Amino acid sequence: MNDYIGIYSQKKILKLYSKYVNAPKVRTFKGFGFGVIPGEREGIRFKTLEGSKAGEPPLEVINCRSSGGVFNLGHHNPEIVQRLKDALDGGLDLGDHMLLSEWRALLGEKLAELMPPGITKTTFGVSGGEAIDVAIKFSFAYTKRSGCVSAIGGYHGHTGLALATGDPEFKEPFQWNPPGFKQVPFGDIEAMENAVDKKTACVILETIPATGGVLIAPKGYFPAVRKICDDNGALMIIDEVQAGLGRTGEFWAIYGGLYPDEKVVPDFMVLGKGMSSGIYPLSTTSYKPFIESAVFREDPFIHISTTGGSDLGCAVAYKMLEIQSDPKFLNHVKEMGEIFGNGLKKIANQFPNLIKEARGRGLMWGVEFYNEMHTQLAMVSIINEGVLQNYCGNKKNTLIIMPPLITKKEDIEDILRRFHQGIENLLKILNK
Ligand SMILES: Cc1ncc(COP(=O)(O)O)c(C=O)c1O
Repeated sequence: MNDYIGIYSQKKILKLYSKYVNAPKVRTFKGFGFGVIPGEREGIRFKTLEGSKAGEPPLEVINCRSSGGVFNLGHHNPEIVQRLKDALDGGLDLGDHMLLSEWRALLGEKLAELMPPGITKTTFGVSGGEAIDVAIKFSFAYTKRSGCVSAIGGYHGHTGLALATGDPEFKEPFQWNPPGFKQVPFGDIEAMENAVDKKTACVILETIPATGGVLIAPKGYFPAVRKICDDNGALMIIDEVQAGLGRTGEFWAIYGGLYPDEKVVPDFMVLGKGMSSGIYPLSTTSYKPFIESAVFREDPFIHISTTGGSDLGCAVAYKMLEIQSDPKFLNHVKEMGEIFGNGLKKIANQFPNLIKEARGRGLMWGVEFYNEMHTQLAMVSIINEGVLQNYCGNKKNTLIIMPPLITKKEDIEDILRRFHQGIENLLKILNK
């Protein structure tokens, strides 16, 4: 243990968390019955502070949640840690959001180089939800409309306009139901055609809805959405907070990562999570230049974010982009994705009464069960075998598994072994 991890016992932390942060959350995690507070962390693994009960050893897990891509480069990636230390030693701090910034300029240029063609401008934020808000807000400014079409079960964040795109169960408790926000089933071209009209400012979609169940759109879906947007003068916002930055083996899921010969160019590309490399929060909304004129020409200060696009965050993200856009890095993801996907499909075939299918791209996979209860039990059983993953919040019969992109072949094989063992253990319990 060090000065920052394990200062208090798990029991005491749970008590403090319950009293001062969120008691229902503590009760939920206790209910799952495993040690729940991450302690030491390095590479693709972390240890919990303690086991689920006093005296039990800590759980050591391979982090296949990756926090939705935050830990694409694993925990404490040495190059990223060094970059942050160097940036601090080199004199950077948050910077001043009202002024200009060398590092925002450099990161903006790097993003423009990597983006699908024509997306060259970037506004910076802190969280994914903020970056989504920016995209929707800018689309309203450009089109002078206030309609937005999103996917049922999609997830773009829990605040503001991002929340407005989500499912009713997350909005209604908060009396939040702004007019003009519509949802359609993901992957259904006809439903999209019927929903988008001359009042629609934007269509917003994740290329691979993660919380929605790692859904794979049929071929032709995204090109059709592009056309529907163009026909109606609406803008297309693509959320690659989870599926972007190399997760599919291509740098962008929408630009060849979903289907190699399908390269769609949206008007906005939104990034979050992985932009931080697990070290320093940053999100980005990148867009085509015509949008800049509509938003900023009259007043360049009309949208600002004090800690969004901090100098330190930009310096860290720049390093991450250099690492993750390297063709060797992307090839590694492709190769590991091939082994991982085939392995999961094989497991799905071995348990045909429990598992409906395994689907995904690169190192982003969903395993759909027939039954929600079995999915939750499988999640716990697989965690107990040392592989952290979780069920999808908006499709609770599906586990989402996203190993860090740096995971090596022997670890991918180990994850598959443990995953298989977790299901086998569950089956034994169910058959008792
Ligand atoms: C696809 C997607 N978009 C947006 C968000 C919102 O990001 P944040 O939690 O940083 O606001 C998330 C978060 O899970 C996400 O998965």
